Amino acid sequence: MKEYSKKLSALPPYLFVKINSLKKDAYAKKNDVIDLAMGNPDLPTPEGIVNCLVDTVKNHPGTHRYPQAKGMPKLRKAICDWYKKRFDVDLNPENEALVLIGSKEGIAHMCMAWLDPGETVLVANPAYPVHFNGVILAGGTIYDMPLLPENGWLPDLTKIPEKVARKAKLMFLNYPNNPTTAVIEDDNFFKEVVRFAKKYDIIVCHDNAYSEVVFGDYEVPSFLQTPGAKDVGVEFYSLSKTYNMAGWRIGFCVGNPSVVAPLEKFKSFIDYGVPTFLQLAAVHALNSDEKINKDTMEEYKKRRDKFCDGLNKLGFVVEKPKSTMYLWAKIPEKFKSMGSLAFSEELLKETGIAASPGVGFGSFGEGYLRFALVTHFNRFHDALIRLKKFVSK
Ligand SMILES: Cc1ncc(COP(=O)(O)O)c(C=O)c1O
Repeated sequence: MKEYSKKLSALPPYLFVKINSLKKDAYAKKNDVIDLAMGNPDLPTPEGIVNCLVDTVKNHPGTHRYPQAKGMPKLRKAICDWYKKRFDVDLNPENEALVLIGSKEGIAHMCMAWLDPGETVLVANPAYPVHFNGVILAGGTIYDMPLLPENGWLPDLTKIPEKVARKAKLMFLNYPNNPTTAVIEDDNFFKEVVRFAKKYDIIVCHDNAYSEVVFGDYEVPSFLQTPGAKDVGVEFYSLSKTYNMAGWRIGFCVGNPSVVAPLEKFKSFIDYGVPTFLQLAAVHALNSDEKINKDTMEEYKKRRDKFCDGLNKLGFVVEKPKSTMYLWAKIPEKFKSMGSLAFSEELLKETGIAASPGVGFGSFGEGYLRFALVTHFNRFHDALIRLKKFVSK
């Protein structure tokens, strides 16, 4: 057989493959796996949203037909109303909001729509993998913007060489950040991003998947709240975490109409969009207040506090995040030389705990593990007992 495309083979080895296959082996052997590897919310979608879907599928067979690919007008309006209410950002439902089959799909296709082979994209490292894999699949060239703890896990735009900045076409950012859990503390960084993007004519793609997964009083901003942001970019939003709808596959892209239009055009050639009954359930979600509620965040908080304190006592270094449902844990010093991939593999084999190796998110994630807080509170107690045994060996 001939070889598959160079674009696909150019993807870096998917570092979660080994973890996934070890996980499969462990499940097959009926081992007791504590799966903290994937950011896959374990709590159910709010009842009203589920009921809306069931009722629509059952009683409105018209919704079984092909959907409106760019999103029904009703959903695009609900998206724009929600952005106004939540972030005080004005958007035109006609051309500044596009429905996606999850923001992952949209980010990958954004790269396809905008990049010609060899064009440069500024990508944070570490990052949610589609931010770099999308670029590779589109034949683009990645310029890494290291995220370092001493810089609050923000990229230092002053370190980007003038020559690179001038030829860069897109920039991907994501705050609250996966995997580092960092958040934007004031509006200076986004202002700097807008200035930089205007100076070099770069399209900013901000991924705001975790805006509602917050602890305490911290309030997540939208990039589009920054003066001038809509001139230079778009924001990707996901319903997966806000409403525990990860498996439903729905998100959206909002912002600059000239940036949104090519994405819409590209998608119109390859997909038919999100099923109508799902779109209507999303309208219900956005118009109601059934987002991750206080109880859900209380549950994440309990898990966060228990596991974070426990990990720190075992020699990991973990800060309590203000947002996201992850812990970004520095591997204890004595295991540092193993690297995060080998560490996570050993951990899974020996303890049944699945975590994501930091290096899977990029080379600057090396030395860290990402734990997702997506299992029952009591399981974190078990996980800490197993970890204690593992690290004291
Ligand atoms: C930063 C970030 N963006 C996007 C996504 C994917 O969201 P969706 O389910 O809408 O594709 C995730 C999922 O974990 C994420 O962490």
